[in-house]
Parts: sequence; C-alpha cells; structure tokens
Amino acid sequence: MLDKFGRNDLCWCGSGRKYKKCHSIMDEQIERYRLRGHEVPQRKLLKTKLQIEGIRESSKINIALLDFIGDYIIDGVSTEELDRLIYEKTKELGGIPADLHYEGYPKSSCISINDVVCHGIPSKDVFLRNGDIVNVDLSTIYNGFFSDSSRMFCVGSVSPEKQKLVDVAKECMELGIEQIKPWGFLGDVGQAVNDHAIKNGYSVVEEIGGHGIGLQFHEEPWVGYVTKQGTGMLLVPGLVFTVEPMVNMGKADIVTDTGDNWAVYTVDGKPSAQWEKTVLVTETGHEVLTY
Ligand code: MF3
Ligand code: CO
Repeated sequence: MLDKFGRNDLCWCGSGRKYKKCHSIMDEQIERYRLRGHEVPQRKLLKTKLQIEGIRESSKINIALLDFIGDYIIDGVSTEELDRLIYEKTKELGGIPADLHYEGYPKSSCISINDVVCHGIPSKDVFLRNGDIVNVDLSTIYNGFFSDSSRMFCVGSVSPEKQKLVDVAKECMELGIEQIKPWGFLGDVGQAVNDHAIKNGYSVVEEIGGHGIGLQFHEEPWVGYVTKQGTGMLLVPGLVFTVEPMVNMGKADIVTDTGDNWAVYTVDGKPSAQWEKTVLVTETGHEVLTY
C-alpha cells in the first residue's frame, strides 16, 4: 500500500515541489484502483526524474551496442566472437554487461539462433550460417542503471517463412508497446501481442516474460504476453518495464537445455523470434527508452 505523505512535505519524486502540488493526486488515483481490486505498482517501482535520466543514458549505450554488433552478423562468425566484441565495446563505452555473472550466466550477451527461443550462451563452437535468424539480447549497466533490449538479425538471405516470423514478431512488440499509457493495464500489452501472433498463425511463449527494470536487472512486474486486456498491473507514469515477446512459428511449448541450464528451445524444433525494448510509462503515454 502507498504510504501517506504529509501534504506540505516535499514530494517523494524529487521534483522539489510540495507533495500536495505534485504526486498526491496520482497517489490517490492509484489508491482508488487498489480499492477496486486492481493490482497496483508499489511506489518504489515508480522512477523519479533523476532515475529516468540514468536509465535513459544506460539505454543509449544499450542500443549503441546493438547498432555496433549488427555489422558483425555474418556467415561463419562464432557467437563467442560476437560476445567478445560486445564485452569490449560495452567496456569502451563505460558500461558493464548485466548478463555477465548474472545468476552464474557465463557471457556478456544472449545469442539465440533459429529454434533457440532465448538465453543462447555464446560459444566458440556455434557459428552463424547463411539463412539463420538470430536474436542478440543485450542488457547494460551504466552508472548503476539498467537497460535491456534485443533485435533479430538475418544472416545472408533467409527463407520467406523465417523473414515473415521476424517481421511479425517485431510488429507484435510494437503493437504491445502502442498499448502502454497511464491508467491502462499490463494485460493490454499481452492481449495486443497475442492477438497479432495468432492472427498470423503463430504462438507466443507463456512461461518467459518481460520485467520491470531500471534500478535492478529484473524488477516487478513480470510481463506476460498472453494476458487479457484490462487485467494485470495498473500502468502509472514512472513505471519502466521491458516488452519482449517470444513468437514461435509452431507451437508455444518450450524446453530448457539440460546441459547448460540456460538455452531455451522450441519443443517442435521450429524457429522462434523475439524483439525487446525498455519502455517508460509517461504522463501522456509512453517513451521507448531503447529506441
Ligand atoms: N536479457 C534477458 C532478458 O531480457 C535476460 C538474460 S539473463 C542471462 O531479461 F543471464 F541469461 F543473461
Ligand atoms: Co529483458
């Protein structure tokens, strides 16, 4: 529950204004939703202006890294070589790869090819091949602030079927992001994502989702993409989370690699595609921080 601030105290958001002239109206609105039974964000999830500035700076490095690595996505390169380049460039830009040593994860990036849904561990024995579709997922810490995004890349010329999967997965993410506005719900995002995937004959992974982000790598809320409109956490200005649906060409079922305990595959062996952006809920709608 949101604790009460003295009306003449300085607002918790750091604006320097009195609480009654700043966030008190918003807090009361949130409380009304809570009383009606909705899940609402705790205040600690709502970022202050300064924190948003920090996450924005981190996001700039995060997307610069994806821009950078795009040039190296070619037939024959090993995923370990890509990971090394990402590590070096992250350091050069003053950042830290958030993936490295996260819960024992051994590398600085996740590189997931074809039927690998996510969390592919870069390896000297895995090479990109002409016709592959590949997701590069990068998470960055800069000045203590976290950002996270991923893109699909096509190696050489890919089949029309795979190209369509890549394109539709991107549209799913974009349609999900379009839903994000204050006093909407997290479920609106999943509904839009899932509707578009199903319309194209695809399925959306259920067990793995997005997450709040900013002060830590993975914060609340958990963000599912098969959710229903009007359900889930209330969206409030200052909330920052990722939109990162995984769209499968075949069935939604997934299985985790029993050898490395990280890589996730489609059970039916068909390809999967994912795009990810970090998004801020603003007063009027949303801002994509990792544009
Ligand atoms: N970047 C992933 C995400 O979008 C998380 C990867 S965790 C790792 O949430 F340890 F596998 F790197
Ligand atoms: Co993420």
